Amino acid sequence: MSVLTRRHLLRHAALSASAVPAGRLPMGTATAGVTGAAATAGCDADSEADDERRTAPEAQLGLRFPDGFGWGAATSAYQIEGAAKDDGRGESVWDTFSHTPGRVRGGDTGDVAADHYHRYVEDLDLMRDLGLGTYRFSISWPRIQADGTGTPNQRGLDFYRRLVDGLHDRGIAPMATLFHWDLPQALQDIGGWESREVAYRFADYAEAVFDALGAGVPVWLTINEPKTVVQNGYLGGHHAPGLREPAAAYLVAHHLQLAHGLAVRALRATGSGSRIGPALNLHPCYPADDTPAAAAATRLYDGYENRLYLDPIFRGAYPADVLDDLGPDDRMVRGIRDGDLGIISAPVDLLAVQYYTPIYVTADGGTITRWPTSEASWQQIFPDGMYDILTRVTRDYGDVPLTITENGLPTPDRLGTDGTVDDPGRIAFLRDHLAAVHRAIADGVPLESYHVWSLMDNFEWNEGYEQRWGLIYVDFPTQRRILKRSAHWYRRVIAQNCI
Ligand code: FCB
Repeated sequence: MSVLTRRHLLRHAALSASAVPAGRLPMGTATAGVTGAAATAGCDADSEADDERRTAPEAQLGLRFPDGFGWGAATSAYQIEGAAKDDGRGESVWDTFSHTPGRVRGGDTGDVAADHYHRYVEDLDLMRDLGLGTYRFSISWPRIQADGTGTPNQRGLDFYRRLVDGLHDRGIAPMATLFHWDLPQALQDIGGWESREVAYRFADYAEAVFDALGAGVPVWLTINEPKTVVQNGYLGGHHAPGLREPAAAYLVAHHLQLAHGLAVRALRATGSGSRIGPALNLHPCYPADDTPAAAAATRLYDGYENRLYLDPIFRGAYPADVLDDLGPDDRMVRGIRDGDLGIISAPVDLLAVQYYTPIYVTADGGTITRWPTSEASWQQIFPDGMYDILTRVTRDYGDVPLTITENGLPTPDRLGTDGTVDDPGRIAFLRDHLAAVHRAIADGVPLESYHVWSLMDNFEWNEGYEQRWGLIYVDFPTQRRILKRSAHWYRRVIAQNCI
């Protein structure tokens, strides 16, 4: 078990076997509808006598979550909205990338996606039907500023205003991400995230969004997974902007981090009472064997996967081993200016953690696959990694409140002739990861909410529509939505506050 503070352990010792203490509530989740007595009812583990029920993925484990725990689901703009040319939306790097032949499986694009821009009312009703307490979505920068600069587009802002109002009307707390990878193409044309200027453009955009939506959004997230932009967009080249330029990659990381800090500063300048934090995909890294060389390689790997993004925000410094490894001539190392780390480390109100997979590192710095993978070949299914990463963040970075903003997997979902979609693999995955989450909370991790990736099937980047990650099945030709078996299960979890 990870070593947590004495206070946490004492608190843990005072708990009953299954109930966990109330965490700090996200603003607005008092509306979640899972409180008090209602939440405690019906949380017994399924009994051994009823073997058939006990072995079903729906089997109840008897683990109750803190009262007011925020149960949610997540999406992002380019992946669900469609309406690529509506109401003055400009082009993003993902429009360019997906329209470039050979970039996305099957030639799929986000032009229509799940047509959420036109069907958001139906989608809001489905969220209410599930009982969601919190919904994490992202705002499309090119809807707000077609070219990434200048006067904000009122029609774009109005869409998000209607969405936010619709969430409040249904008792769901909005959690909005400012940037989920859809950089205005016009900004890519002036250098994209390689350009320091783009971080400042981002702060202007953020300010426009705060001004327009501010009070309605209790929690803001700045940049979704800067690491993925670095690794997939600038090293692997299989995400927009589709480059393979190692020399640029870490400069991009720095400018994304700078943009994060500038947005935090912009929110504070508005005097807003809303909270803000980064959304980081963290990967617990383990040595593939017990040699000292594998341990050393794992340590550096962890630097590139986790500390490169956590340390500047929470410690005001980039990790020395990573900087050493990059070397003094790296564009990033040369691109850090006086004062940048002060901006990046401006205090945040929460940290959003996204967990999908562990990484096993070999002595020569390579990786191996240790656990079964999902339909996403990069994803090894390892629920204990969730516990490890949550407890590690709390141990190493202190008591910052945490939210899980993504966790899920793609499964081979098909619409049955009876009109249902059976996805037991998703239920088992979510149940096992939630058990790990429960254990982490019991061990003192200040976790306040959890969002399944994803609310609905969507455009999975370079995989197009092939991988289905949703609780809700989307029949793309008709845009009909069907709750999967996992969605029915999740509704029960939310209603009972218990797995
Ligand atoms: C995350 C992304 C999200 C989705 C999931 C599967 O890295 O943030 O948009 O693609 O992976």
